[in-house]
Amino acid sequence: MCGIVGYTGPREAYPVILKGLKRLEYRGYDSAGVALLDGDLNVYKKKGKVAELEENMIGTNMHAHIGIGHTRWATHGEPNDRNAHPHLSQSGQIAMIHNGIIENYAKIKKDLLAKGYNFKSDTDTEVLLNFIEDIKKNNNCPLEEAVRIALKRIVGAYCILLIDKDDPHTIIAARKGSPLVIGIGKGEHFLASDASPIIEYTKEVVYVNDYEIAIVRPDELILKNLGNENQTPFITKLDMELAAIEKGGYDHFMLKEIFEQPTTIYDCLRGRLDTEKSTITMSGIQQYADKIINANRIMIIACGTSWHAALVAEYIIEELCRIPVEVEYASEFRYRNPIIHEGDVIIAVSQSGETADTLVAIENAKQKGAIIIGIVNAVGSSIARVSHAGAYTHAGPEIGVASTKAFTAQLAVLTMAALKIGLEKGTITKERYQQLAQELADIPEKVEAVLKTDDQIKKLAEKYKDARDFLYLGRGYNFPVALEGALKLKEISYIHAEGYPAAEMKHGPIALVDEDLPVVFVATKDSYHEKIISNMQEIKARKGKVIAIMTEGDTVTPTLADDIIVIPEADEIVAPMLSVIPLQLLAYHIGVAKGLDVDKPRNLAKSVTVE
Ligand code: AGP
Ligand code: GLU
Repeated sequence: MCGIVGYTGPREAYPVILKGLKRLEYRGYDSAGVALLDGDLNVYKKKGKVAELEENMIGTNMHAHIGIGHTRWATHGEPNDRNAHPHLSQSGQIAMIHNGIIENYAKIKKDLLAKGYNFKSDTDTEVLLNFIEDIKKNNNCPLEEAVRIALKRIVGAYCILLIDKDDPHTIIAARKGSPLVIGIGKGEHFLASDASPIIEYTKEVVYVNDYEIAIVRPDELILKNLGNENQTPFITKLDMELAAIEKGGYDHFMLKEIFEQPTTIYDCLRGRLDTEKSTITMSGIQQYADKIINANRIMIIACGTSWHAALVAEYIIEELCRIPVEVEYASEFRYRNPIIHEGDVIIAVSQSGETADTLVAIENAKQKGAIIIGIVNAVGSSIARVSHAGAYTHAGPEIGVASTKAFTAQLAVLTMAALKIGLEKGTITKERYQQLAQELADIPEKVEAVLKTDDQIKKLAEKYKDARDFLYLGRGYNFPVALEGALKLKEISYIHAEGYPAAEMKHGPIALVDEDLPVVFVATKDSYHEKIISNMQEIKARKGKVIAIMTEGDTVTPTLADDIIVIPEADEIVAPMLSVIPLQLLAYHIGVAKGLDVDKPRNLAKSVTVE
């Protein structure tokens, strides 16, 4: 994710771009920058938010009628000034901004280095830019032709905008997998990642399609495909208000992020899981594979939702790798004077990468000789930097305070890592590895199917929104999912909810059960299913209201449950990425039905950077 803005026309470009970037900061805020062309091609960029860039530029002559701007969500190269966009090509002739990931950038970079290119940044973007310049030079062709040739050879996702010093009114743009909207003005054009920077100037827009290249001048818009065939721009009229556009048309960021999960899980797997070659490429894990394989135990340290992901990972790693796993609350671990041996493997799971308890816990453990593997969403964050190695979850900025897409992305990364280690350790067969790799690859599509239950869950929320308490019950891989469902409800609707291992009810909590108590069972078809059916009967016998998340084809659960949400069949190891979705939606819709601020719940902050 990142925010992209471009302008060419009679206005001063800088104010248009700056305001547009501020509207796109929800898409990423690691750094910001603009490139302006007015005879000279000048790039101004720095780490931090757009407002910091703006302050930095006060007093500088920013006059130009063409420019591009970027607010970054880092994927390759930590957030700092030199990795900020726009990037300049080696010759200084071309400036480019990019949203997305170039998967084969390493090979391209190696070839360019051999040709004498050097790089000022660690980004994949700068590699693509110099690749384009190299093609332009060798073929002596126009920039748009060099872009077309380059894009046919790269693998990955992109929305790119380029300006060429020798072509002072033209912006070249292209997209695949990352969005691009072009606003049609009178003698001017606006380009952006979504319509929010455009809507105040024009409501006539063109949504550029994948594999299309746009050549944009103040009074001309040419669209071509990668086959160099002209495409007719399809102009639509915007009918949304600004606030809605920033949320992608959803009422809240939380709902948008729940619905982003098919894409974010796919982005997490992309470039790593290859079911055809039957490989999982994770350089950070590979680097420490021997230490992990030979570890006497693995500790996973996290907080909140990330701690729930860690609990799921405990079941997965012990099942696939046969290595003992201990999951620790970071806040307890850091003060408990834990026993850490040299070479102990510790996995830190964190969306923000800035959670104080997790950060200090791993810093202390690192001082005692532990190896720290970071599973983090925010590139270049403190936990990522303290870790010896790790893997980013690539879920993009998570704005809603309640963590949703980060949780499923964490599970995807942890499952890939466990599969990789299990195969190398020989604790799973190649067949089981291939079967689970395919199961993992099928998850994005199955999440799409689960999201289709949204209307049904909204009705369920209406039915149960006034309950005083909820119980969430699960077993095995679904026990941590029950905990996560309870946390979601608590933090979004302020209703007390408790997650429990289903079999634990008879040891006391079943005393809570009566006809007013909704009990959510995460009861997907797995090796615990018969047992959880018995637990459901125990609740029914005491008149509890049962809401069951069940697998399609299950004929028993509907005979017991008062309400059912049906989700696709999946292996129990990957099922949590599906069974959590209805719980996210239930919490969201109950919060909305109660008129609460679901994106900013009371008493909470997105990143708990204090103890
Ligand atoms: C989850 O919905 C909460 N917002 C919170 O529990 C969060 O998961 C926890 O603070 C950990 O944050 P982190 O993943 O950024 O470390
Ligand atoms: N992959 C590029 C980088 O890390 C672009 C990231 C983005 O989409 O903001 O700089």
